[in-house]
Amino acid sequence: MSTEQKGGQKTAVSSLEPAKGKLGVMVVGLGAVSTTMIAGVEAVRRGLAKPIGSLTQMGTIRLGKRTDNQSPLIKDFVPLADLNDVVFTGWDIFEDNVYEAAAHAAVLDKETLAKLKPYLETIRPMPAVFDQYYVKRLNGTHVKKGKTKRELADQVIEDIRAFKKTVDRVVMIWTGSTEIFLEPSAVHQSIENFEKGLLANDPGIAPSQIYAYAALSEGVPFANGAPNLTVDIPAMICLSKKNAAPICGKDFKTGQTFMKTVLAPAFKARMLGVSGWFSTNILGNRDGEVLDDPESFKTKEESKLGSLEYIFQPELYPDLYKDIYHKIRINYYPPRGDDKEAWDNIDIFGWLGYPMQVKVNFLCRDSILAAPIALDLVLFLDLAKRAPELRSIGIQEWLSFYLKSPQTAEGLYPEHDLFIQSMKLKNTLRHIMGEELITHLGLEYYD
Ligand SMILES: NC(=O)c1ccc[n+]([C@@H]2O[C@H](COP(=O)([O-])OP(=O)(O)OC[C@H]3O[C@@H](n4cnc5c(N)ncnc54)[C@H](O)[C@@H]3O)[C@@H](O)[C@H]2O)c1
Repeated sequence: MSTEQKGGQKTAVSSLEPAKGKLGVMVVGLGAVSTTMIAGVEAVRRGLAKPIGSLTQMGTIRLGKRTDNQSPLIKDFVPLADLNDVVFTGWDIFEDNVYEAAAHAAVLDKETLAKLKPYLETIRPMPAVFDQYYVKRLNGTHVKKGKTKRELADQVIEDIRAFKKTVDRVVMIWTGSTEIFLEPSAVHQSIENFEKGLLANDPGIAPSQIYAYAALSEGVPFANGAPNLTVDIPAMICLSKKNAAPICGKDFKTGQTFMKTVLAPAFKARMLGVSGWFSTNILGNRDGEVLDDPESFKTKEESKLGSLEYIFQPELYPDLYKDIYHKIRINYYPPRGDDKEAWDNIDIFGWLGYPMQVKVNFLCRDSILAAPIALDLVLFLDLAKRAPELRSIGIQEWLSFYLKSPQTAEGLYPEHDLFIQSMKLKNTLRHIMGEELITHLGLEYYD
């Protein structure tokens, strides 16, 4: 990759493929988050609303020096798929079309949905790969049948191949439910073991992994909005690299963890100690109902607990963070629907150990926060697939910005600090476009 000067402008000369033609998005799980994303994309396409919360649609990126005054929109700087070229399809264990599913989720108001109804009704789910053993609180009827997990994977591969005939490129995203907590086992250690496990119906292989296997086998990038183990295993990382199908970590970073990864770096930057962090939530959507099952909650809890440990680095700062009591509670409370309420009580201490408290009360809308993240992940994964430098590296760590559980190369600790993640994301975009990276050193202004 190189850059050249053209009319005073730096022009990237790269082998990044353009975003030509249609981008097909295969959505696993047509629930609250995904229907809000799909309806939102259509509302934006029709000029009914703005894509607020989406970095790909609204964000800018500074190029060159602060005095250069050059901050194009990200979507004008890198070749992202245009929203008008995005085509959706998906799977669910219920037969509801996207209009019906969105109405059931009740995130968007009836008026907005009515305007979008003719379009949303056209998206009908394909039968899903599902097994209640992995999501105890759901019982779906719109499911694929097969004697082995291999047969089910082959059916998903057929779905992907059929969809590929109608579009130019494909990305898959899991917006399905949180599955029970699974630990990596022998079946996850290599592609060979995994494929044997598919034939043997190994219980270590969850439905989300059958979709991911199908996607990665077909060279289709895969994002995971839930905390499920899914691609966080050597077999999937190998498959991702082998077939140039990018992956990127798991679990949308939306509400409480989003706030945690903003506040914790601030306390650490100022060397303020933390003795306790108690987080509790109430939510009443289907996600809340699924998380009411202890086995699904355990998966979510693990994903949420990680961030503070990594940000505070207690091994480097034992006086400040060695004894943090970190507790997370999620309570299913139907009256609130998708309107979650989260409370954080943070016990901090300062100069000479004097204690203080910070209280955060976040009244958020879960799916309104998650929908733009799902969209950005899809668009950036499609970009990664077209970027020669990124497509075959497997894990796209630069997308950690969006996720509660970033995925990293073996031996690397994950970076959870939102602002470091944001810098990494933007520098990756500058890098693939042949632009200079921004370090924020800034000494040149004082020469
Ligand atoms: N909303 C947020 O802020 C947020 C944040 C982080 C993570 N998440 C995760 O995103 C996921 C989706 O959240 P949601 O609020 O849309 O949940 P939801 O319950 O409304 O939607 C999930 C959908 O997936 C379907 N499903 C379950 N298993 C499936 C399978 N094997 N194949 C196909 N479809 C399947 C369900 O029928 C349902 O329609 C959850 O795992 C949730 O934990 C959400």
